[in-house]
Amino acid sequence: MDEQFARDVMHGLSTTPKYLHSKYFYDQRGDSLFQQIMELDEYYLTDCEFEIFQNNKEDLLQHVTTNGKPFDLIELGAGDGTKTKILLKYFLEQGADFTYKPIDISNNALNLLHRDLAQNIPTLKIETLQGEYFNVLSHIESIPGKNKLILFLGSNIGNFLKPVAEDFLTRLSTILAEGDMLLLGVDLTKDPAVIAKAYNDSKGITREFNLNLLSRINRELKGDFNLNNFEHYPFYNPVSGTARSFLISKTRQTVTIDRLNASFHFEAWEPIHTEYSHKYHLSELSKLATDSGFKVLKNYTDSRQYFVNGLWRVAHNI
Ligand code: AVI
Repeated sequence: MDEQFARDVMHGLSTTPKYLHSKYFYDQRGDSLFQQIMELDEYYLTDCEFEIFQNNKEDLLQHVTTNGKPFDLIELGAGDGTKTKILLKYFLEQGADFTYKPIDISNNALNLLHRDLAQNIPTLKIETLQGEYFNVLSHIESIPGKNKLILFLGSNIGNFLKPVAEDFLTRLSTILAEGDMLLLGVDLTKDPAVIAKAYNDSKGITREFNLNLLSRINRELKGDFNLNNFEHYPFYNPVSGTARSFLISKTRQTVTIDRLNASFHFEAWEPIHTEYSHKYHLSELSKLATDSGFKVLKNYTDSRQYFVNGLWRVAHNI
């Protein structure tokens, strides 16, 4: 049993309002459901980032190699690397000298990625790094004559509360050296109806993705959640720019989780908060960059202006 998972579930379900952390979506089934979400038209984020990479890979490489140094391409939370492959292939074709270093908490995800890349891009230099981002990053020594380009894609930053995102980016800039860069993929504010559909797709995959959290508790912690008694309820607030997801208890009920030796009472229509997915304005992002020790070099957006990949350079002295 994962002790941290058990502690977090205990804490989250004992708190008012109840919550479960979205990082726990990603067990094997959750990973596969998230892959399916990324293929949905309604979940526009993936297509946008794909389009941005296709259209700007050349410009991006020029920025990264201006000083002619070899570089490490370090990806935080690499997943299956589908979008990153566009960059990896193009950079190699252009003869860029770099090593791809994906960091992920999941050994399983890293092994799959390594195998896939070794097969499909055999000339790629790859070093997988398993662990929490900061633990791993702070162990990567600064190699003189080598810069880092950090990739943090897919609007993963949106899953942090805004102050936590700033704190995260500040820690990142502190670990990095002058001249290192960050390519940050962020979902932008837009028509609320478009955002609402992205988190409530017509095939019900996002619903399943959320409910899988309860299945995971049933499986790993011997819970007795009846999934029919919960409904997925996503909600986008255009004032704060935040999409939030909830699982709502449809009835008054008590759920027992054996491995926690605990029971949790739910009132009818009581929510469990499961996820934040913040959307940003471009102006908010440039302030965030400055406040966290970076300078925005370039904002690459897609044709619909739905999504941005900001290329930020470390700027300790500003
Ligand atoms: C991983 N993360 C950026 C996704 C998001 O959009 O917040 C996770 C997700 N949740 C529901 N659909 C996708």
